[in-house]
Amino acid sequence: MKHIVLIGMMGSGKTAVGGLLARALGRELADTDALIEAREGRAVAGIFAAEGEGYFRAAELALCRELSAREGLVIACGGGLPLTEGCMDALSPAAVFWLDRDPGETYDTLDTASRPLAQRGRADFLALYARRAPVYRRWADHVISNAPSAESAARAILTILQREEAPL
Ligand code: S3P
Repeated sequence: MKHIVLIGMMGSGKTAVGGLLARALGRELADTDALIEAREGRAVAGIFAAEGEGYFRAAELALCRELSAREGLVIACGGGLPLTEGCMDALSPAAVFWLDRDPGETYDTLDTASRPLAQRGRADFLALYARRAPVYRRWADHVISNAPSAESAARAILTILQREEAPL
């Protein structure tokens, strides 16, 4: 069974939507940030501060390689994970959904304190989105745009999955 993989900017709802999908489908949720934090015994912000971004990206890649041995997980990815060469390849075969949310709105409601890459203000966040959007688009099988809530994004994804699994 393929993994269901959620990608997109920080604050786009991947963890919340992933939880709803996992519950609806009776699958396990693998939240990459939470798994790395549990292993490291410290928060993402602490890992960035102590070890730097490169260390965190290496941990993400190692985790993706581990998850490649599993099947049928709902995987909520950290926002920068698809940018690291090898991560998304390791997670395939997968049904990949990009939760694409207006970046200005996202920034305005974001918990920036826990996000080391959201410390440089709104304009920088919008520029980060612009740089990443082509990468998210490249990996996405489906784009869920500006869903009004996590519930509605999860419903849209479930509909797509049911359609894909329906016999011809
Ligand atoms: C990051 C997003 C964060 C976390 C880290 C880096 C990014 O995850 O992995 O702070 O590069 O966009 P969320 O997308 O869950 O906030």
